[in-house]
Amino acid sequence: MRVLGIETSCDETGIAIYDDKLGIMAHQLYSQVALHADYGGVVPELASRDHIRKTIPLIEAALADAGCTKDDIDGVAFTAGPGLMGALLVGATIGRSLAFAWGKPAVAVHHMEGHLLAPMLEERAPEFPFVALLVSGGHTLLVRVDGIGRYEILGESVDDAAGEAFDKTAKLMDLDYPGGPRLAKLAEQGTPKRFVFPRPMTAKPGLDFSFSGLKTATATTIAAEIAAGNYDQQTRADIAHAFQQAVVDTLAIKCKRALLQTGLNRLVVAGGVSANVSLREQLSELMASLNGEAFYPRNEYCTDNGAMIAFAGLQRLKAGDTEPLAVRARPRWPL
Ligand code: KG4
Ligand code: ZN
Repeated sequence: MRVLGIETSCDETGIAIYDDKLGIMAHQLYSQVALHADYGGVVPELASRDHIRKTIPLIEAALADAGCTKDDIDGVAFTAGPGLMGALLVGATIGRSLAFAWGKPAVAVHHMEGHLLAPMLEERAPEFPFVALLVSGGHTLLVRVDGIGRYEILGESVDDAAGEAFDKTAKLMDLDYPGGPRLAKLAEQGTPKRFVFPRPMTAKPGLDFSFSGLKTATATTIAAEIAAGNYDQQTRADIAHAFQQAVVDTLAIKCKRALLQTGLNRLVVAGGVSANVSLREQLSELMASLNGEAFYPRNEYCTDNGAMIAFAGLQRLKAGDTEPLAVRARPRWPL
């Protein structure tokens, strides 16, 4: 079985072709980062318009890369939510229509299910069951995963998502959009423990997260350092380090709790923030200490991409899911 995957939920146009025997046959990604950079964040209307320009040419390029034609495609998967409504509608409309024109089934994929299954694209793929930590710009979720579609939410963020906290804090530090990776880079130069920020919601039991307070702690520290005439490059790096360490520790504490609570010893980490080197190091250490294993997607499949949508779509089609002949997108959609 071979599936074309289309991802347009935010500011990345991702197209891929996944074959269950051959793996990923084509993978095209166009990032709109430059388009939104001047605005300091994603402008939904501009995102939709750019997806319209890029989606079909990238599908043509993916078919050419895979050396196949529409006749070799057995189904079309597209991200139907959650995400920006206008952006989602581009992928959903093109995906649903192409499937109709080609006489093939279409399947709507949940963006977070795409992230969740992305580590299964790797040679060392996790087996079910496992605990998944999903950390993206829009979501922070801890999920018990027993199989495709068998997801139990163990915890989630009550306010900002982890990636959102990175991005907002980066903005406070005058780092350009997209801030998360830039803040992580700055943190590499930081002195550990010069500043220590809270680990929110770790003192009480439970698996939910809250990251908005960290932004405030950072803002307060920045203001104090500016007032003291100390806000130099090293201080900025030290603050970035303290922020990142607080996020990473908080995520690691909750992962450990979720693993102990479920009795599972496999941890899957996915979504944009799973590209963070410090997070990976700490979670891999945690899993070693628990005699378990951590699984991550390769870097290009951490952030939004079409490969994860093609893969999740193929699993969904195999399980008998198909979309009716209507274009549907859901900006909010629980996993
Ligand atoms: O999964 P993703 O591409 O899009 C959503 O579904 O939201 O995640 C994007 C998020 C952004 O908030 C970005 O700042 C964050 O992932 N991110 C990182 C890193 N790379 C991407 N955050 C921290 N460290 C990184 N290296
Ligand atoms: Zn995403």
